[in-house]
Amino acid sequence: MAALQRRTFFKLGLAGAALSLFRPAKAGEILSDYSSVETGETVFSPIVISTWNHGIAANAGAWEVLQNGGKSIDAVEKGVMVTESDLTNRSVGIGGMPDRDGHVTLDACIMDEKSRCGSVAFLEGIAHPISVARAVMDTTLHVMIVGAGAKKFALDRGFETIKTPIPEVKAEWKKWRKEHKDEYTKPEINHENHDTIGMLAMDKFGNISGACTTSGWAYKMHGRVGDSPIIGAGLFVDNEIGGAVATGLGEAIIRIAGSHTVVELMRQGFTPQEACKMAVDRILSKHTDLTNLQCCFLAIDKKGNVGSYSVYNGFNYALKTAKAEKMVDAEFNRSW
Ligand code: GLY
Repeated sequence: MAALQRRTFFKLGLAGAALSLFRPAKAGEILSDYSSVETGETVFSPIVISTWNHGIAANAGAWEVLQNGGKSIDAVEKGVMVTESDLTNRSVGIGGMPDRDGHVTLDACIMDEKSRCGSVAFLEGIAHPISVARAVMDTTLHVMIVGAGAKKFALDRGFETIKTPIPEVKAEWKKWRKEHKDEYTKPEINHENHDTIGMLAMDKFGNISGACTTSGWAYKMHGRVGDSPIIGAGLFVDNEIGGAVATGLGEAIIRIAGSHTVVELMRQGFTPQEACKMAVDRILSKHTDLTNLQCCFLAIDKKGNVGSYSVYNGFNYALKTAKAEKMVDAEFNRSW
């Protein structure tokens, strides 16, 4: 996959530097990468990436913040809120699939450039778990709250409530329940379910933040929590190095602290692409049964290089910059 190579201010040379200095920056204007403006401020070209096709609309939400000179933490929250609100999405937010007992339990986490983070898990009936996670980060001494405690926290702070599952999802679940009365099934994650949205953004200050939100594995056991709200598994950001998000079978991703592993590999000098592949290789080395074991990583480094890799084919991500808006197919280890 083509990495996004960006040039530095220093590579512009004296002529480029003079041009930059003589060209006043307008508020919110996207300048070339690492450009110097008349204030002496260094301005980066913002970039946002997110998992799956639903990432296109989510990126557009994030872009509204980034193009106006906003911070990456605000961008990723606004971005994934778009997906959480999408009634047609069966793996994130309001339209999400329930667990085997008919409860839609939501998981989300968020992390900023200062390594501040917040997370909620096993949260029911709240429209925007990502904003509750943000409130945990911004207003409490804690990182993670779950279940009834997370619900009380959200209600006390006036977060919007929702009734889930929505009627069409409830009808689907009732049918499934009748057919699978006593069994624990193993649905194909990421093949028929499109799973989590994980988003990473770099703002004009060069700061990276990330967000991750999901309704998790459809028809999971009641109480099951996947990788998505676990800092280091579904999401990890270290602003000195970069950030990573994961999507796919949460149990396998947690086992290798997936997103943290990707960032630490980038710290060792591997590209985002190499780091994502090495994390997938590690997952493969820990499992003998690879049936339905879809796991995918998406990462960005401090220079704006992007990489992704998955166990099976079919994973893609959405990318938006000032110059490009596209879906990119990830490289993979094997075909279904
Ligand atoms: N990756 C989402 C989950 O396993 O719940």
